[in-house]
Amino acid sequence: MAAGPGTCALTALRTQATRRPMPQYRRRRWRDAMALRLDLNGLLAAGTGGDGLTAEDLAAFEPELLRVRDDVAARRAAGALPFTALPHDREAVRRVLEVAATVQGQFDALVVLGIGGSALGIRALAGALAIEGSALRIVVADSIDPDTFGPLLGRLDLRRTLFNVVSKSGETAETIAQFMIVRDRLMHALGAVDYKRHLVVTTDARQGSLRQIVNDEGFQELVIPEGIDGRFSVLTAVGLFPAAAAGIDIEELLAGAASMDERGRAAPTPLRDPALALAAALWLLATRRQKRIVVLMAYCERLAAAGDWFCQLWAESLGKSPEARDRAADWGQTPIRLGPADQHSQLQLFVDGPCDKVVIFLRVDDHGVAVDVPATYQDLEGVGYLGGHSLGALLNAEQRATELALAKRGRPSATLTLPGVTAFTLGQLLFLLQMTAVDLATLAAVDPFGQPGVEESRRFAYGLLGRPGFETSHDEVEAWLAQKDTRFIL
Ligand code: PA5
Repeated sequence: MAAGPGTCALTALRTQATRRPMPQYRRRRWRDAMALRLDLNGLLAAGTGGDGLTAEDLAAFEPELLRVRDDVAARRAAGALPFTALPHDREAVRRVLEVAATVQGQFDALVVLGIGGSALGIRALAGALAIEGSALRIVVADSIDPDTFGPLLGRLDLRRTLFNVVSKSGETAETIAQFMIVRDRLMHALGAVDYKRHLVVTTDARQGSLRQIVNDEGFQELVIPEGIDGRFSVLTAVGLFPAAAAGIDIEELLAGAASMDERGRAAPTPLRDPALALAAALWLLATRRQKRIVVLMAYCERLAAAGDWFCQLWAESLGKSPEARDRAADWGQTPIRLGPADQHSQLQLFVDGPCDKVVIFLRVDDHGVAVDVPATYQDLEGVGYLGGHSLGALLNAEQRATELALAKRGRPSATLTLPGVTAFTLGQLLFLLQMTAVDLATLAAVDPFGQPGVEESRRFAYGLLGRPGFETSHDEVEAWLAQKDTRFIL
């Protein structure tokens, strides 16, 4: 095979990699300093009064946690939790970097066409880690609203845009419709040969219409490994390719995930494993204290998209009917994502309203960018005290204040502190939350994978749009519409 521009770029990337000094994440002291901290004190009765958990509640639950730990380890060993292998999958990283190298320097924008788990993971990565001034801007287009997608395409210079089509099933209507529109426009703008250079497809290795299209048309492609649903795919090519193409250090991200994995596995007791301890607390609060709403409150804008990713992870993985009959029949925790500004809109409800929520704070020690409030108005007591504080310090003080305000009203909260927002800490956070979801699902006896409830609505949409084979779904929707009582349509 002739060496193309991609081969040169890859060689350059490799040479660069061999010249690079040893990355910090290989140094134990640095890794320890960058470790996430999970503070569960705000969930305990000692910190919040009557409605919190007691240390005895947690200790008495340890045998059940040991069962969960063994169960998860056994499924993992049997290959039933393939997402857990991702932080250690060197071959997948090599392939991602290889494809990323082929697009280096050729585009200004990388538009991800995907939805749900095929969009929220890269949103979380780009939101937290996108490099200011990066040569490649990531745009995640998960909307088929003509009012957003149409103008987006209008604004893009197609000659300088790469589209990454991402779909595990290869048949999601929204993503495939976007792909068909984009392909058509690229062909018109660039011709029937050149358009291919502007498309990279990430999909299943064998199944789905998109796979067939890739095989027929020969786009650059990346594979989503078997058994990995969208919400567990952020550390596959789904998240890694656009991230690497935009210059995010995916090796550091995976090192962060691996370190959280090792921390959990090396924990001497279940309650020293951050994922299992968090899962235990959330489970006990939901089942014994009726806290069925879990609020992720990120005191850092860069983690807002990770909060949206968390909401999907919780909703689609845990909102399920249990497999065993003796379990609570209505398992699930409603996830909500908030930010610091919500202190001025929703906190009132959380402090004084129904005591049905548990808050997980995301707090950042070092916000990276220093913006200080100037020491003006020193003669005005009501505002002068702000002078000299950094905005990061102000944010962190607000977080502590909210934590205590909740605690004083007996409202439980946990705090996850990131030393900084880096690829390493984000990798830890994402892996921790994925493992917590799996541990919780094990406690609830629900299958965290698959989304049967969503599949039904997919079938109805296919029926309405006339997809062959979905005539019964079409008829069911029409019959349902026909029986609506017109007296109640105003
Ligand atoms: O988490 C999931 O599996 C889902 O949210 C999917 O990511 C979403 O439905 C998109 O599916 P696909 O990647 O098959 O297009």
